[in-house]
Amino acid sequence: MSDTPSQPASDTTVPSAPAASPVKSMDEIMSLCKRRGFIYQASEIYGGINGFWDYGPLGAQLKKNLREAWWQDMIMAPCWGRKGPGGEKVRNVPVETCIIQNPKVWEASGHIGGFNDPMVDDKETKGRFRADHLRGIYTDLIPHSQHTTEVQNVVSSIAQPATAFVPKVTIIASTEGEAVDQVHNDKKIQKLCGIKNIVEPFVKVFNSSAWHGKVDFGKEVLSCSLDAVPIETLKAHAAQVPSPFSGKAGSLTEPRQFNLMFKTYVGATASEDDIAYLRPETAQGVFINFKNVVDTTRVKIPFGIGNTGKSFRNEVTPRNYTFRSREFEQMELEFFCHPDESMEWFEFWRKFRMDWWESIGLAGDNLRLYDTPKKDLAHYAMAGSDVEYRFPFTAPGFGELEGVAHRGSFDLEQHEKHSKVKMKYFDTDRGELLPNGSKKGEWYTPHCIEPAAGLDRGVLAILCESYTKDPSRPSPEIMRFHPRLAPIKAAIFPLVNKDGMPEVAEKLYDELMARFGKTGLIETDAKQNIGKRYARMDEAGCPFCFTIDGDTLTAGTVTVRDRDTGAQERIGIDKVSGYLSEKLNM
Ligand code: GAP
Repeated sequence: MSDTPSQPASDTTVPSAPAASPVKSMDEIMSLCKRRGFIYQASEIYGGINGFWDYGPLGAQLKKNLREAWWQDMIMAPCWGRKGPGGEKVRNVPVETCIIQNPKVWEASGHIGGFNDPMVDDKETKGRFRADHLRGIYTDLIPHSQHTTEVQNVVSSIAQPATAFVPKVTIIASTEGEAVDQVHNDKKIQKLCGIKNIVEPFVKVFNSSAWHGKVDFGKEVLSCSLDAVPIETLKAHAAQVPSPFSGKAGSLTEPRQFNLMFKTYVGATASEDDIAYLRPETAQGVFINFKNVVDTTRVKIPFGIGNTGKSFRNEVTPRNYTFRSREFEQMELEFFCHPDESMEWFEFWRKFRMDWWESIGLAGDNLRLYDTPKKDLAHYAMAGSDVEYRFPFTAPGFGELEGVAHRGSFDLEQHEKHSKVKMKYFDTDRGELLPNGSKKGEWYTPHCIEPAAGLDRGVLAILCESYTKDPSRPSPEIMRFHPRLAPIKAAIFPLVNKDGMPEVAEKLYDELMARFGKTGLIETDAKQNIGKRYARMDEAGCPFCFTIDGDTLTAGTVTVRDRDTGAQERIGIDKVSGYLSEKLNM
């Protein structure tokens, strides 16, 4: 679901089925990302700044490759030539719009009035958290022996009216799965919650968001349910709900609204009249230019406008590495169509976007398409689906990677109302047939289907998916990037740094760089033994390593080593470029 105005952001969900693949360690992934120059903490030498991340040489190239894959498959050659629901070619054009716009844009879009997260403060500890991230352990209302049959009733009684039940202890987590993980494994949280022992680990209750377990609290052993603390409970019982920071009740405020947009000033006086905002999404840059694009190009409905670039949200709890950052990049397409055809286009885009993420290496159990229940849709949205990835920190739940929303005519109508500029479209291909064979035409406000992807979240999902541990290999940590995304496309190793081998390597480097350099790096490395060099390239996710050895000088052949299998074969040095081209499919 889109983190849309007036909707509390909720971009992680818990699945009804258990995780199929083992959960990877986020600490190990982050450590490799730091060590190999994928991602650094922003302002690290000054102690960092919460919610901001920089990309190192490998990360910057990986991110560029993902951005360019999106651009190629969404703008240049949309949807790999797949035809639209009416058999038509998909046509999309790009725009590049400003981060700072007239503040009226954000009034019209609803971001000034409603882009809020409900926040709760702890008056004693000064801690602050998002109200929808509060999880509670509730003492069950029936004896433990009856749980197997009656647990669902208990859980639904907690989840339904909700306001009547106050949790015994609380934890901050964006999903129930994450909260369970903390309760099971985090000693500090256990101490804070007064947990002496987990007598029966929490397991997920089928078809519900709740988890169920048995806890030794020292004085008593209790059967418990772990579930969200509804905002209504916080409003009705703020004084009785235990603080997740101190464990004590009585210090929490009621949930209060907090606007997520970053403010700045335009002009020298920095007065109230000069307030402007950093954009919280790239989408509005498209809507405000809809008329410009229609008037200045030959696009005809149906067509899309793509916009990529930085967006900013003053997230209250930036967390989980780059997953929820305060500065991040989006890749959004606003696809405009006739209202009668909009549901078909929605289906088309939700399917294509899922296929696209699969095509770049996120296939399998860790990716799913989740249809937003009608009750959770933004008030103007007619349908919504999220492409979700099972990140190590959301497992067994999923986190949103991309939202595909049917936004109806909401945005164009809002901008028409606020700017007084007509946003309707005159469709010359519609209306009754005239005697001269042409159509009368029809005025309407197009509907918009919006596939809105996060570039940084995409990179994070790719990093998590690619990270592979194989202790049986001399290089136990491997980044299995899809060749299209790999930041280093090939490495060339002279076996020894003499006997003419470095010169041969240099020549091959120039040849490969000329052909593949636009899509990634080509590296040469003559230091350390060959095993260590392979290991370095495995960690960087380089799919192919070519080694120049004695036979290269006498027989004109090189060895090529495949990253994923570790297998080696010999090919002619004159065949290297063609080999790589075939393997990289470029
Ligand atoms: N125009 C609709 C829109 O912006 P959204 O769901 O709020 O919808 C789209 O954002 C995508 O942007 C999300 O699916 C996510 O990938 C990314 N995104 C949103 N907030 C983010 C944040 N704080 N940090 C990183 N990525 C974020």
